[in-house]
Amino acid sequence: MKRIPTMILAASATLACATIAASAGAQSTPRQASAPVAGDADGAFVTASRFSQPTGQQLYAGVCAGCHMPDGRGAQGAGFYPALARNGKLASGGYPLYVVMKGMNGMPPLGEMMTDQQVADVVNYVRVSFGNRYRDKVTPAEVQALR
Ligand code: HEC
Repeated sequence: MKRIPTMILAASATLACATIAASAGAQSTPRQASAPVAGDADGAFVTASRFSQPTGQQLYAGVCAGCHMPDGRGAQGAGFYPALARNGKLASGGYPLYVVMKGMNGMPPLGEMMTDQQVADVVNYVRVSFGNRYRDKVTPAEVQALR
């Protein structure tokens, strides 16, 4: 008897995967830049693959704060989201730049959905916010070099 629920679970998991694969396929269809993006109620995306926020602060609020919290303190619970506040690892701009561009375990490579300028802006923003005082700036050219 115990086996039956397991089989049902396995079957529904397979179904869920198939559904995800199907919708992923649908999303990869090329879009016109001006096409409205389904599910983008707050206008966070310019297109399905680009964020619209014009400043580092707005990018942080719209893109990063959901995981790292609005005050940069991070969160721990279902997952671990490190604090960016007073984080000595931000001393070298190359590190946060690399994490934003390439992702890291639970952190997606969000830089792929931003312009070079947006990546530089959001990295420079976190490096001078939440108690961080690293005033040297990363540049869009450094972002480009990581693409
Ligand atoms: C989906 C959740 C999520 C979002 C959104 C997110 N991050 Fe992260 N971030 C993480 C997780 C999880 C880690 C830890 C990865 C690890 O250590 O394995 C992380 C790690 C980092 C680190 C390294 C911190 C350290 O102490 O090593 C930096 C820097 C960072 N994120 C910056 C950002 C910035 C800037 C943004 C917005 C552009 C952002 N993150 C958006 C989840 C997220």
